[in-house]
Amino acid sequence: NIPSLKEVFKYDFLIGAALNTQQIEEKDAGAVALVPQQFNAVTPENVMKAAIIQPGWNDYNFTIADELVDYAFKHNMKINAHTLIWHNQLPAFMRHMQDADSVKAYFQNHITTIASRYDGKVYSWDVVNEALNEDGTLRNSVFLQKLGEDYIVEAFRLAQKAAPHTKLYYNDYNIEQPAKRAGAIALIKKIQAAGVRIDGVGIQGHWKYNTVPMQDIEESIKAFAALGIEVMFTELDLSVLPNPWDSNTAEVSNTAEGNDKMNPYPKAVPDSVAAAQAKAYADLFSLFLKYHQAITRVTFWGVADGVSWLNGWPIHGRTNYPLLFDRQYKPKTAFYSVIKTKVN
Ligand code: G3I
Repeated sequence: NIPSLKEVFKYDFLIGAALNTQQIEEKDAGAVALVPQQFNAVTPENVMKAAIIQPGWNDYNFTIADELVDYAFKHNMKINAHTLIWHNQLPAFMRHMQDADSVKAYFQNHITTIASRYDGKVYSWDVVNEALNEDGTLRNSVFLQKLGEDYIVEAFRLAQKAAPHTKLYYNDYNIEQPAKRAGAIALIKKIQAAGVRIDGVGIQGHWKYNTVPMQDIEESIKAFAALGIEVMFTELDLSVLPNPWDSNTAEVSNTAEGNDKMNPYPKAVPDSVAAAQAKAYADLFSLFLKYHQAITRVTFWGVADGVSWLNGWPIHGRTNYPLLFDRQYKPKTAFYSVIKTKVN
């Protein structure tokens, strides 16, 4: 029997995984056995996003989201619902909405209907996701264009009203980076100054195994905790593949397997890479433990390497190895290195 992440870190923070419904159905036997043993928190990877849960004006599809909610309840796992307001995965009917009144009506209905339906059933909501640019300014989304810069405060105000028993979070990637972090801090302060509730901030944590920005992460934990809110790592994974925009691709072209520069490890990841990834995960968890009083949850973006979104992004059809469990749902070197940060 392998150790359990949720047991090992139970006095420190919740341990979550992003799930799709396929992982809770019997056909995915590996995940079915592993998930309740390892995790005590769930973030629906896709099924609560706008395009899926509200495909048309008066057309709500709660069935698959409810399956995940029931599953989590049955296994005593907390659901972090994801996500109410995001510029991506929007339903077709609203993606090109031109008229501001319609966008406003959509915005109010969507938040109110969904947040109130799940109040008391989910633990928390990512109320707003990825609203910031890298320089800390607000992303030019349909919401910014049609509702103006106060839309984020409004989203939290509506969510607070609709879901008084649910924790409310802001979630984004790269907000450990100084400029974007400053934007997030300003945003959170603005919500607080308006007298609106925000309970926490999620740093997504989609990093590369050999360039994890440890210093920025530590500074961010301190800076966000100083705002008096929970700090979470909400979408953790450590890609081992090059990105097309990486300046240095030597690590790839030097490998023997490097026929396809962008998919260097189609069969198995080299031991040296696995070891470096394990070290990066251990460094991260050592840092998380140092700040266990500020950090309330660490969620992996997927359960095992085979189901990670990183096999399909930013290039389709690659073989990536970003998580703690392999394609057979066996714990990897990185899993044991994470366990050791606590047990040693
Ligand atoms: O369900 C359809 C399927 O019917 C269709 O045949 C297929 C064809 O492309 O697409 C399927 O939908 C895909 C969906 O995942 C479900 O698998 C979408 O194309 C695909 O774009 C979508 O990707 C998701 C992505 O968000 C969308 O932007 C990823 O699974 C999901 O991991 C990813 O998650 C995001 C977080 O929500 C926010 N932070 C970043 C993170 C990674 O991008």
